[in-house]
Amino acid sequence: MHPKILFFDTTLRDGEQSPGVSLNLKQKLEIAKALVELGVNVIEAGFPITSPGDFESVKTLAKEIKGVTIAGLARANPKDIEVAWEALKYAESPRIHTFIATSDIHLKYKLKKSREEVLEITESAVKYALKFCPDVEFSAEDATRSDWNYLFQVVLTAVKSGAKTINIPDTVGYTVPQEYFNLISFLIENLKKEGYENALKEGKLRISVHCHNDLGLAVANSLSAILAGATQIEGTINGIGERAGNASLEEIIMTLKTRSNFFKERLGYPLEININTKKIVPVSQLVSKYTGMIIQPNKAIVGANAFSHEAGIHQHGVICERSTYEIISPEEVGWTGSAIVLGKHSGRHAIGFKLKSRGWTLEDEVLTEIFEIYKNEVKDVLRNIADEHLEGILIDKFLEKEYRFYLLSSQVISVYGSSLKPFAQVEIEDRKEGRKVSIGIGVGPIDAAYKAVASALGYSFEREPDKKFIRLIDFHIDALSGGTSAEGISDVIIEDETGIRTAGLGRDGDIVIASLKAFLRALNRLEAFKEKGVELKAKKLAFKD
Ligand code: KIV
Ligand code: ZN
Repeated sequence: MHPKILFFDTTLRDGEQSPGVSLNLKQKLEIAKALVELGVNVIEAGFPITSPGDFESVKTLAKEIKGVTIAGLARANPKDIEVAWEALKYAESPRIHTFIATSDIHLKYKLKKSREEVLEITESAVKYALKFCPDVEFSAEDATRSDWNYLFQVVLTAVKSGAKTINIPDTVGYTVPQEYFNLISFLIENLKKEGYENALKEGKLRISVHCHNDLGLAVANSLSAILAGATQIEGTINGIGERAGNASLEEIIMTLKTRSNFFKERLGYPLEININTKKIVPVSQLVSKYTGMIIQPNKAIVGANAFSHEAGIHQHGVICERSTYEIISPEEVGWTGSAIVLGKHSGRHAIGFKLKSRGWTLEDEVLTEIFEIYKNEVKDVLRNIADEHLEGILIDKFLEKEYRFYLLSSQVISVYGSSLKPFAQVEIEDRKEGRKVSIGIGVGPIDAAYKAVASALGYSFEREPDKKFIRLIDFHIDALSGGTSAEGISDVIIEDETGIRTAGLGRDGDIVIASLKAFLRALNRLEAFKEKGVELKAKKLAFKD
């Protein structure tokens, strides 16, 4: 018999200790619910003694979150433990997590206590916590910088006092995988010698690991500890936490899943992991949204680029057979949509693939033409190339650039230091209905100009009777080179009331004009798409299924 690995999530406690992060109760509840759906075993809800807010959060989570153990942190003293229990006592499965430092540095400078005193405190704290709660976890803070023999004495004291989980934190992210492996092995071997072999095997006693990422090794160290026999892994979603953060739970989970054979071979038995990996990306995005901690695009598993292939050779490979460049399928961790992103290095295959995934099947020579236009006109000027830009090239080709709307003139006035609002007037040639003139007032010159165009052509950014509703989905303005006289490039995506999205690019030395050109191009494509989709099919340039 071998115990399954338990996942202990401390996003709401250690994660919330990230600089600048403060979650409110509603957000904590929502994250906790998402963690339950993910399937973690323990949620550390907070550190109740630290503030009334933390106390209330732990108490509310203890009352409302079911199907998981709720832990609360407490220093190794009676008051902390009592307050933690006051908050935790409502939980279906409560756990008091008590800790004290064991390294000489912490003993000397922070605790100002002798090794003997810390041993006594360990014993009395664990025993006191057990009076309230049968599930007690003990952490030896700064374990990895502690003297190993002394650390073992503390661990043994905690075990003998009744702690069921012994956590060995790498509090300052100092250890390296081989050293941590050796430390965890040393502790486990010694516990076995003391007669705890069966308890460890049956999961009645667990060695837990809790790694910080100061040297970027938190995940590697945690995995190493699993190989040494640790059966509880602590970490946070997206790896958030103090300083460089904690071990990213999602990375550990996906490594154990993806390389399950390796772990099975090394451990001699398969690891049982009951995690719904499809919930990883949703919970990651929720944590990012509420903490305000942006996920770096190249972050493993949950970064926006984690499954994006930009290089032509990679894109070709993935289109032919995903496993050429992908070790996990994006859907497995909850990503939806295509993994191919268009960029500087995208090749003809990727362009064809993208258009196909949007319903366009192209004849070979049309694809070649589209690719040439993409290469010459789009790829060097846009950093992020949305699918709508590609589709736009196709529509332009069909139209032979015979657009419906042309900007004849525009005037935009924006005054600083006055109560007058920015004002715009535009004059547009509508090839169907003749010349149109209108004005717009906005919060800025571009807002005013866009409102003027919309009003001239019968569109509105608000839902209004007799107007065609239009929404601005994306808008960027960038400089094409350095210097104040650089040409501006504007990139716009709009959507009509039926959900059709089109994009437009506009270039000009005047950024308002560049923005107007981009908007009109997107509107021209929208009109063409709506009116001439059938003809597009008939001409056999392309067809949309
Ligand atoms: O990093 C650490 O040592 C901790 C303990 C309180 C578990 O967060
Ligand atoms: Zn920590």
